[in-house]
Amino acid sequence: MAQKILASILSADFACLGDDISKVIASGADGIHFDVMDNNFVPNLTIGPDVCRALRSYGIECHIDVHLMTNSVANLAEMFAKAGANAITFHVEVVPNASGIIDKIKGLGCKVGLALNPDTPPEMITKFLPEIDLVLVMSVNPGFGGQKFIPSSLDKIKYLADVRVAQGLSFEIAVDGGLNETNLSELANHSVDNFIIGSALFGAADYSERINLFRSKLCQNLDSN
Ligand code: DX5
Ligand code: ZN
Repeated sequence: MAQKILASILSADFACLGDDISKVIASGADGIHFDVMDNNFVPNLTIGPDVCRALRSYGIECHIDVHLMTNSVANLAEMFAKAGANAITFHVEVVPNASGIIDKIKGLGCKVGLALNPDTPPEMITKFLPEIDLVLVMSVNPGFGGQKFIPSSLDKIKYLADVRVAQGLSFEIAVDGGLNETNLSELANHSVDNFIIGSALFGAADYSERINLFRSKLCQNLDSN
């Protein structure tokens, strides 16, 4: 599986979101990560399906990876699927019996993911792994960009990667929160497929240069294996 860099638009310029996304995609990002916060599951409040639809109308054609940090999931998932999302991830802490919603999201034609907060044991999703397309490992507590990577996330990634091999499964492993040019190379060695990066990317003066730097960190590590 190719390693992908997804730009977390939480750190984009919301005053000119379409332009900023066009720029980051033209600079080499593989898609965008769209953080949805409800001021309930998390303390912050962000954007909803209308913004996703507006981005599609504006001409954004890239992969849109929706991350629902919301206590309500089923209706929002449907609204996002209709608004042009490609993948929809929700938190297992909100829906411990996730099968029904997994089936619903697949039925809407989207990839489906389950997210794990830093304190949530990965065993909580083991039984769903054969049914889903991706696992989103939160490496910060959800709610805000620009936080520090939590190192114990590496153990969780390793557990998931081991289960994937042992059971011959094909779900992708995504890591979200606190990624930057300094910790990327270590992560590249941990079977991560999708690197979700917000502040370390949108904070750069030159997105192309920054994405090239990220990719060089990922490659450096692969070369040394
Ligand atoms: C946090 C969000 C992340 C966040 C990542 O709740 O889910 O996607 O925006 O941003 P950085 O890279 O700044 O940690
Ligand atoms: Zn996210």
